Amino acid sequence: MEKTVLITGCSSGFGRALCNEFKDLGYYVIATARNVMRLSDVKADLKIELDVSDERSIRNSFELILSEVTGIDILVNNAGYSVRSAVEEIEIDKLKDMMDVNVFGTIRMMQAVLPVMRKHGGGRIYNVGSISGRMTGIANGGYCSSKYALEAITEAARYETKDMGIEICVIEPGAMDTDFFGTLAKNSDEKMKDPASCYGNIYERDLKFRGKQAKSDVQKCAKRLVRINEKRKLKVRYTIGVSWIYRVFTKMPDGLKEWAIRRFN
Ligand SMILES: NC(=O)c1ccc[n+]([C@@H]2O[C@H](COP(=O)([O-])OP(=O)(O)OC[C@H]3O[C@@H](n4cnc5c(N)ncnc54)[C@H](OP(=O)(O)O)[C@@H]3O)[C@@H](O)[C@H]2O)c1
Repeated sequence: MEKTVLITGCSSGFGRALCNEFKDLGYYVIATARNVMRLSDVKADLKIELDVSDERSIRNSFELILSEVTGIDILVNNAGYSVRSAVEEIEIDKLKDMMDVNVFGTIRMMQAVLPVMRKHGGGRIYNVGSISGRMTGIANGGYCSSKYALEAITEAARYETKDMGIEICVIEPGAMDTDFFGTLAKNSDEKMKDPASCYGNIYERDLKFRGKQAKSDVQKCAKRLVRINEKRKLKVRYTIGVSWIYRVFTKMPDGLKEWAIRRFN
């Protein structure tokens, strides 16, 4: 029988690529986005409006979904974005909004889907973290902290649900060629270009090099997740599309990591 996969944040990037990939392999795909109009050319069986920062939106979308399907086999918590700033200058409201999507949105979705999965004897949840959940970048403390939080939430929920036939893991992409860096710029650049900031040298370097690193093809990253899903058992975390240098960073002792990040980040 075809498996049902529910994915958040499908209006662009990784979410959209995942829908297309799962659909090509014969899954029943439920694509969701804040604005359902942005799903017009996404391959999916069901297209639903869902804002992960809004509990009512999640409730309504689950009512709709469960009137169409009997269960949900796979959830991909993909919705997320970044705001960049030095810690001293983080705008707390912007940080709260980002946490509401990256962290609380993921928790809300897990809380909605777990009873459904339990009722059907199991399921899989992929929380899309980042390599930024394993190493902290300069002017990136807010986003990194949201992705570090996902690591802990994923591990805890995994241990808690193991006996229920549910497997939860975190997917840690490196840089991918999506709208991610454009959204980041929209959310961060006004502040980062403020000449009054005492972090001007850090921001200048960030603005110069940001997004210029090699980026993985998002469709290939989606293929990789789909292949991971073919495994009989899931590990707790998988890095995808991460360059060797970042893999090395995550394994460095603290002193060396500090030197390397200040030198190269
Ligand atoms: N691209 C990278 O380099 C990279 C690296 C590591 C990890 N990641 C992670 O990968 C995931 C996907 O990002 P991407 O690269 O595909 O970027 P993207 O193209 O900007 O996609 C982000 C998606 O999240 C959605 N979203 C934002 N707020 C939402 C909300 N409140 N409710 C529902 N959806 C919401 C966006 O929808 P709207 O169109 O409505 O805004 C968009 O569809 C994110 O979790 C990101 O942190 C990306």
